[in-house]
Formats: sequence, structure tokens, C-alpha cells
Amino acid sequence: MNILITGSGGLVGSEAAAYYLKKGFKVFGIDNNMRRFFFGADGDVSDNINRLKNGNPAYCHIDMDIRDRSMLEPVFQKHSFSRIIHCASQPSHEKAGLLPIVDFEVNAVGTLNMLEMARQYAPEAVFIHMSTNKVYGASPNEIPLRELEYRMDYLRPDDLDGITESCRIDQSVHSLFGASKLAADIVAQEYGRYYGLKVGIFRAGCITGPNHRGVKLHGFLSYLIKSAVRGQTYQIIGYGGKQVRDIIHSYDVIQAFEAFSRDPRPGEVYNIGGGRENSVSILEAIELIRQIGRIDVKTEYFSQPRIGDHICYITGLKKLKTDFPGWKITWGLEDIIRQMLETEMAGN
Ligand SMILES: NC(=O)c1ccc[n+]([C@@H]2O[C@H](COP(=O)([O-])OP(=O)(O)OC[C@H]3O[C@@H](n4cnc5c(N)ncnc54)[C@H](O)[C@@H]3O)[C@@H](O)[C@H]2O)c1
Repeated sequence: MNILITGSGGLVGSEAAAYYLKKGFKVFGIDNNMRRFFFGADGDVSDNINRLKNGNPAYCHIDMDIRDRSMLEPVFQKHSFSRIIHCASQPSHEKAGLLPIVDFEVNAVGTLNMLEMARQYAPEAVFIHMSTNKVYGASPNEIPLRELEYRMDYLRPDDLDGITESCRIDQSVHSLFGASKLAADIVAQEYGRYYGLKVGIFRAGCITGPNHRGVKLHGFLSYLIKSAVRGQTYQIIGYGGKQVRDIIHSYDVIQAFEAFSRDPRPGEVYNIGGGRENSVSILEAIELIRQIGRIDVKTEYFSQPRIGDHICYITGLKKLKTDFPGWKITWGLEDIIRQMLETEMAGN
């Protein structure tokens, strides 16, 4: 079976490619290393791409820009795909603010290009679209919170299970990144609901894993661990470092893709993240890194929060778990941190 993965050099795409190669798929990976253009040398993903290319005859790399429909079309004309996993994107708020046109062209138009190619040439394929919880903009910040010693948390018992898919998506600050991803998310839903394609939309929060090329502007835990191991100072931005994220390993994200592919529901949207058990504030993450890695973490604090930054975001997993009862989190927070520390200390 042929599978097409965009962003195959990135965190999720490279993990998905390695997973499906092991499963015996022929994997076509599209990635033009644009992450290097966005973030400089630290964001370079060519080592991930080379790892996939080397010794994997079933991996075919396509150095192509998803913005370019005229280049994509021959790929779809030449090969048939039973699955498409769309992970290529511009992933940072700050970068989107600096490059709003490029951001929209990659995130929104690039997604439309991929969906349209699928509609024309692979209408039976399962199409996974990687979306983001930033489609909710700052509306999760309207939920009443309580401040604990090291973290923020939801005040009302009904909110404790986290943010559901019915959270409002408009009339709040998204950042230009959130807006371009929201456009892509809605278009992807439409290709499922209107055209009937087997499109699944996954709204993720903080995904991480050993292949993450964390940079200051994207990939909080990866960048925090990198800074700690390299003895660099990590900048905590706003909310006293008590802002909460829930962390999910890229492996568990791919298991959700698998579950959806076995039982696709066209146009359905799922929140995906580590959930309450894998939730952590920046202060707590720093403490865990100190304990697990036995290293000091140097920090400095800036009180001005990022525009639209979530104060407490814990993913509600009820819909995903209800539709796909076999899916669960297999990577706990401490194991994720341990693996990332080991990878960073080994110099990978
Ligand atoms: N990592 C996270 O925490 C997170 C959280 C929420 C949502 N997401 C979403 O998940 C998806 C995958 O994220 P990731 O962390 O793997 O991102 P990543 O930045 O690690 O990987 C994206 C890849 O896409 C490639 N790319 C970018 N523009 C391209 C273009 N125009 N043509 C071809 N390739 C291009 C980049 O070179 C990079 O390798 C993205 O849609 C992202 O928005 C990620």
C-alpha cells in the first residue's frame, strides 16, 4: 500500500514515515526543509529526511513545496495513495506574524492543494489533516481558572476533563497562525462533509518526541530540554510560568491516525493531546527536568505574555476515546521527558 506523508522531515511526519515503513507500506514523503527557512539551522530537518532515505528502499523522498499545485499534480497522477497524512506546515505564531502571506499560503492554501489533489486523484484515500488547538484562538482563556502554587487549573469541576471540540472557534485572538490553520481546518472538514472524502481533522496541542527540532518559537518542551542540556537560559514568558500544556508523544498521535484509518468518519474533528495525566506547567516541567536529568535549568522571566497564549490548555479526549475505544495514551509525561533528555544528551 502507498502512503503519502507531507512534512515527512518534521516531528510528526518523520515519526509517521518510520512507523509506516516498519508496517510494510511504501512511503512517499514530501518535505522541502522549509522549517530551516522558518527557523534557521536549529530548525533544519535534513537529518530526519536523510535517516528515512538511508537504508529504506520503501521510502521515496519528494523535495517539493506543497504550495505548488503544478508540481503536486504529477505525483498524484503517477502514484495511487490509499492514505495521505498531511503534516507540512508553518507551525509558529510569531513567525506567522512576521510572514503572514507565506504562513497562509503554506497552511491554508497548501492544505487546500493537498485536499484537491486527493479529491481528483485519490478520492478513496483516508486523509489525515493535522490541525491545532490554536483554531480555538484565545477562547479557552475564558474558562474560569484557579491559581495553584506551581500551575493554573480549571476552577469548575465540569471543566476538569479539558477542552472539547465544541469550544468556540471565532471572535477571539488566534494569531495569524491560528487563523491560517483554522481556514485549513474548515476546508478539510468541508472536503469530508461536502465531498464525502475520508478526512479526519486532528486538533493537537503540544506534540513532542525524539525527532523534534525544537526552536525558541515552536516546541516548548523540546526547546526547554535543549536549553537545559546545553546550559542555555530558557525564557519563561508570562503567567509566572504557571501556564499549563498537555503533552502527547508523536507515537500516540500516529496511533490515533491508525484508529481513524480503520474506521474513518468523513469530516470529523478530534481534539488530541496528552490529557490531564500528561499536563504540566512550565514551572513543573523545569522541576521534572531537574529531577530526571539531574541538571540545572537556567531561566529568565518576561512578564508580558504572548498574544493569545493559552493560560491553561488541557485536551478533552472524550470524543476521540468514544469513537475509537482502543486508542489510549501509552507515553506518560516522565517517560517522554526521559526519552527527550537522553536524545538531547546523546547529541541527536
Ligand atoms: N508539534 C506540535 O506541538 C504541534 C501542535 C499542534 C499542531 N501541530 C501541527 O501538526 C503538524 C505537524 O507538526 P510538526 O510538529 O511535525 O511540524 P514540523 O515543523 O516539525 O514539521 C513540518 C514539516 O513541514 C515541512 N514544510 C513546511 N512547509 C512546507 C512546504 N511549503 N512544502 C513542503 N514541506 C513543508 C517542514 O520542512 C517540516 O519538516 C502541523 O500541521 C502542525 O501545525 C503540531
